[in-house]
Amino acid sequence: MKRVLSGIQPTSDSFHLGNYLGAVKQWVELQDGHDAFYCIVDLHALTVETDPALLRKRTLASAAQLLALGISPDKSTLFVQSQVPQHNQLGWIMECLTGFGEASRMTQFKDKSSKSGADSSRVALFTYPMLQAADILLYQAHYVPVGEDQRQHIELTRDLAGRFNSRYGQTFQLPEAYILKTAAKINDIQEPTAKMSKSSGAVAGVIEIMDSPDANLKKIKSAVTDAGREVTFDAVEKPGISNLLTIHCALSGRTIAELENEFAGKGYGDFKAAVAEVVVEYLRPIRTRALELLEDEKHLLDILHQGSAKARTVAEATLADTYKNLGVVL
Ligand code: TYM
Repeated sequence: MKRVLSGIQPTSDSFHLGNYLGAVKQWVELQDGHDAFYCIVDLHALTVETDPALLRKRTLASAAQLLALGISPDKSTLFVQSQVPQHNQLGWIMECLTGFGEASRMTQFKDKSSKSGADSSRVALFTYPMLQAADILLYQAHYVPVGEDQRQHIELTRDLAGRFNSRYGQTFQLPEAYILKTAAKINDIQEPTAKMSKSSGAVAGVIEIMDSPDANLKKIKSAVTDAGREVTFDAVEKPGISNLLTIHCALSGRTIAELENEFAGKGYGDFKAAVAEVVVEYLRPIRTRALELLEDEKHLLDILHQGSAKARTVAEATLADTYKNLGVVL
């Protein structure tokens, strides 16, 4: 069976629709027929200032949401990054392989550090992609389901794996990014040319999985639309409507052409009401289930501890091979 690995940061109380449609929906599909490892990357979340109580709460909320969204502990290994110390250990080796210039070209680092100013950015923000490479390579993953914004990090991971293999002997599987064309980038519904994002979006533009159905209904009904009144897909001229079409299709399973037909001659208001209905009804049982799961912290911790124990056995074997090939005395 081919291996799949992906990760998500516990940086907010709720995942948003971009996280789900760009990544987690594919995680759920790939757990059938693949050996899947999914990781709550709490160490990556530390690259920005964090409050200890919030980190704990959000890590558990992440687990509850992933389970509610369909990750099954019987099919997938769900674990917390910090519970598998080999991530840090291999992360260091990855840093030793990465050029300063190469790391400086990572667009996520450039974007994030330009927001807070390079001087006040953490060193760990710079080395973030090397820890991510370690996350992937420890599990010898074939596929990494992510949104478009992660493509460059997966490319770097492939480069580092290839570099290590050619210098020190075959050690790592070269991973491939698994990015769906249709939902690779979900945009902010108030600013539809920008990515929906936990950190940069205004609250009104981000559809959160844990938001109340009412709040999400209101948000979608007040989504920004475009000039004209036809419901047609045109990402350049009609970014607002196109984003809503993408969201509707991804959740309802219908095609863009079907929706364009259905809404021909109707206004944006009718269309937004239909999108709101699809989103709210899709998310309603997921939120309810996540809230139920959060009532039983011990159950969540049991699942995470079991997942971490399984992840450690795989990670230990890869790290031992890596050290042996590097010439470390064992
Ligand atoms: P994070 O937590 O920022 O995002 C989690 C996943 O959601 C995707 N995503 C989106 N997809 C489509 N449209 C959007 N607007 C949108 N916003 C976010 C991201 O692409 C991601 O797949 N660096 C990773 C975390 C990570 C990781 C890993 C991923 C750490 N180690 C190893 C894969 C493998 C991140 O930014 O997650």
